[in-house]
Amino acid sequence: MSPGIYNKSYLMTAGPTPLPPAVSQVMAEPILYHRAPTFIEVYERALAGLKTVFQTENDVLAFASSGSGALESAVANLVEAGEPAVVASAGKFGERWAELCEAYGADLTHLEFEWGTKIDPEQVDQALAGLDRPAKAIFVTHSETSTGVVHDVETLAKVAAKYDTILCVDAVSGMGAISLPQDEWGVDVVVAGSQKALMCPPGLAFASVSQKALDAAADNPTGRYYFDWNKTANGQRKSPADSPFTPGVPVWMALDVALKMISAEGLDNVYARHAALARAARAGIAAIGLERFGPDDDDANVVTGAYLPESIDGGKLPKLMRDGLGITVAGGQAHLKGKIVRMAHCGYYGAFDIIVALTGLEMALIDLGYDAKPGSAAGAAEKVLIEAGSPEPVG
Ligand SMILES: Cc1ncc(COP(=O)(O)O)c(C=O)c1O
Repeated sequence: MSPGIYNKSYLMTAGPTPLPPAVSQVMAEPILYHRAPTFIEVYERALAGLKTVFQTENDVLAFASSGSGALESAVANLVEAGEPAVVASAGKFGERWAELCEAYGADLTHLEFEWGTKIDPEQVDQALAGLDRPAKAIFVTHSETSTGVVHDVETLAKVAAKYDTILCVDAVSGMGAISLPQDEWGVDVVVAGSQKALMCPPGLAFASVSQKALDAAADNPTGRYYFDWNKTANGQRKSPADSPFTPGVPVWMALDVALKMISAEGLDNVYARHAALARAARAGIAAIGLERFGPDDDDANVVTGAYLPESIDGGKLPKLMRDGLGITVAGGQAHLKGKIVRMAHCGYYGAFDIIVALTGLEMALIDLGYDAKPGSAAGAAEKVLIEAGSPEPVG
């Protein structure tokens, strides 16, 4: 391919995701002292905005870490060495919960579902019923980024409630892309990170924690310091709110701007945009002749995964798209390396990002010897986008 004409870069991965210019710009402003009123105003406004996006009245506790820090905070606060804990996973990030529980010495029951399938709430129910001693917490994933599959958190919350078990949900990639009404569904703990649908750089992690989970944490004698939920809750509840540790000031400034953008767009519109972009991506994949990876449902609105044709060397595709065309998509992880491609659309994405990614995918496949008709993916996606809404009249 001729690199001269592929001189622009397009980021189509599920985190970090592209930043809106206003979000980037605010981080170039002089850094603020975190105890100065100018920062506290930003901090308090962003903490309140987070509650809206998390759809909760809980405290959304914030940590200066990547998303995994928030996952670790849940395990550090709820898991006791030698005590039962349950993980239900169907992908790489679900497995992270199990690795964390093991690191903290839990007596772990790990229900492993095949990657690319959904966690079966019925089997989770049976596993909880069969435990010798009740588990204090169960850990699951909302949007499993390694496969694109979105799990049925609403039903899982009902199952957890039946056994009075605290449900912890990893919504690192789903938060702000697909609705997860935490309070309505009765989910105790939801964790997320700044660098995906929240349209910010990496660096902030969140745990929205119910009072029940905070109380369980207070009763847990396991040692922890930075990630102690009650320490952070006590600081954030002060007036003015006070982070117990130095917050990642520039990312908070970014988050404040991003949350204002989400609020201006309206949460329902944000979800509808993600749904429309995902439909367009799915239509494009099908038009290329690729089989979708994951169940054939329509709620996988964060990442679109597709099997790569067996006739090509799939491992070469992401590199070819990135280095040859300037389009960064993700390949498969672990045993799916070289077998699938994952195109993300969570966060600051619009219609033409999908067209670019699909066209680039089609071109790279053709370059690798696959027989696709140029323009078929873009055409199919365009039809979906037109159905999703005509452009506003100009002038
Ligand atoms: C669902 C999910 N959980 C956890 C993580 C880990 O987050 P981080 O890499 O920010 O630690 C990711 C990151 O991609 C993710 O998508």
